[in-house]
Amino acid sequence: MKKKSKKIVIGNMKMHGSLAFNEDHFKNLLQKLNTFNNLEITLCVPYPYLFQAQKILTGSNINWGCQNVAKEPEGPYTGEVSASMIKDFQSKLIIVGHSERNTAYCESDENIAEKFNMIKKHNMTPLLCVGENLNEREAGIMEKVVAEQIKTILDMYGSDIFKGSIVAYEPIWAIGSDSAASPNQIEKMCDFIKQLININSTDNDEVNIVYGGSVNAKNAVQLCEINGVDGVLMGRSSLNTNEFYEICNGISKI
Ligand code: 13P
Repeated sequence: MKKKSKKIVIGNMKMHGSLAFNEDHFKNLLQKLNTFNNLEITLCVPYPYLFQAQKILTGSNINWGCQNVAKEPEGPYTGEVSASMIKDFQSKLIIVGHSERNTAYCESDENIAEKFNMIKKHNMTPLLCVGENLNEREAGIMEKVVAEQIKTILDMYGSDIFKGSIVAYEPIWAIGSDSAASPNQIEKMCDFIKQLININSTDNDEVNIVYGGSVNAKNAVQLCEINGVDGVLMGRSSLNTNEFYEICNGISKI
């Protein structure tokens, strides 16, 4: 299999941070990560901190983005934030379909598909999260569950919409826990996802698959070495400058 030039490291800050915390954290990341030019690094911040991320990280090798987007372009949608507003801050990437949103806010697969499309329309990268819960894994239906999550987008927009996007395999049972999924589980699912999407792509527009769920400095290199894994998506580890650095440092040497 051809080796990719850049591994992907994405941090999802979730609902953490403050102006004071971010000021230190972003500046420290800027300093510590500036030599990792062989990595594609992105930090997904809460909406109110996009301006701060842009101010501090512009010109660095760290991209920024956020964790959700409205499916409508604009209008009377109280509390929503549109793709063009996010793009105004030079964001590169938006997470869609994270299981924490799906569970808490009853996000449907159709909603997620429309958001995915909206991100593409604004020339940003959608990062689609897919994954099964523990019951589904134990019942052996994890591939069926993931296929349903992806198929809605394929049915609504066709497979080419996935060109240049990222899919994160995030088994729900591994998120916020103390152990990641096993290399075997991850390899099988990444392979399944690639086959399902099956696009005719070039190096520039292929779909990348990352793994998320309890990624830390101890397991990041092993996770990135799994066949079919193009990088990692981390939650807690993205809030700790040293952990973030160690993860990038390890992966940059692969
Ligand atoms: P943790 O890395 O904290 O398990 O969170 C994973 C996640 O949900 C990233 O989107």
